[in-house]
Amino acid sequence: MQPAYAFLAPGQFARGWHIVRFSRELATGELQRLHYFGRDLVLYRGESGRAVVLDAHCPHLGAHLASDGGRLIGDNIACPFHGWTFDPEGRCVDIPYAKRIPERARHALRGWPVLEKDGYIAVWHDPEGNPPEDYLPDIPDWGQAGWGDWHFHRSRIRAQPCDVIENIVDVAHFAHVHGGEVQSFEASFTDRTVTQRSRVRQTAGARRIIPPGLAFDFAASTAEAVAAGSEVTGEATYHGPAIMTYCAESRSELVSFRTWWVNWHTPVNDDEVDLCSAVILASLTDEPLPAEFVELYANTAHAAFGQDVEIWKDKIYQADPILCDGDGPVNKLRRWYEQYYLPLRS
Ligand code: FES
Ligand SMILES: [Fe+2]
Repeated sequence: MQPAYAFLAPGQFARGWHIVRFSRELATGELQRLHYFGRDLVLYRGESGRAVVLDAHCPHLGAHLASDGGRLIGDNIACPFHGWTFDPEGRCVDIPYAKRIPERARHALRGWPVLEKDGYIAVWHDPEGNPPEDYLPDIPDWGQAGWGDWHFHRSRIRAQPCDVIENIVDVAHFAHVHGGEVQSFEASFTDRTVTQRSRVRQTAGARRIIPPGLAFDFAASTAEAVAAGSEVTGEATYHGPAIMTYCAESRSELVSFRTWWVNWHTPVNDDEVDLCSAVILASLTDEPLPAEFVELYANTAHAAFGQDVEIWKDKIYQADPILCDGDGPVNKLRRWYEQYYLPLRS
């Protein structure tokens, strides 16, 4: 039977930018294996500093370009099996034992458009091979004095990208999953963005999910937030199908800071995604932020995602949900998200 949405069709992944690594995870001359969008890929940083993503298997006889640690030559990569050499676009530029490069070899290896900015490395996925779009915004505070590098947590989880993105309009789950009382909530859409503006207060005695395996006392830090009357006002925006930015300011007697988050999910296959939360933060006073506070903040940000994961890993997808008047614009979000997928063939 035909699925209700194109994004539910097996083997289909969203067209758009997807983050795969942070810049500091890839040194010059380093080569890594990736597996995303159901495909084996290689990621490397060439001699010039350029980050490159290519399909992993050589179009000659199928060797993996990272076998034996791979062979980088400048910004190019040579296959370890017979030495065919590819440039960052995936064009075969040398076959050391041939007089002529076969015409078919020139574009046989898929090179993925890569965008490296604000400390992360993103690839453009498009099943039709269209050129990338320019919709990822700059993070204005990135690279400024006092901000530092991303503090991130990444994990491979069982979830569907459509479940992850739906979270942004699901106002009704705050009170049950995140233990917050929603003071105000508004979702707005443009062609390539969905924005949530919300004000949420942590309340005592509220139900909340405590994710397993945390390296800190989540219940205690939540109790502290409740005692301090913590109220979080923020604006979270999805730019395209898989990358969310969030900016917030928090002021109290103890610590005042401004923060940027980048939350992203990148599909591994039909059942799993890599889910990552990353934060940078800086003090709003002359006092620098204590290192322990920064660490705890990054852990708490990740734990908030972990609360959702506990639901995602067991849920099914209701393609025709029964909604009520207190729900957010779930179906509108689904129609917006559908644009990133190849239309279903009837
Ligand atoms: S398999 Fe790569 S050069 Fe032969
Ligand atoms: Fe959530």
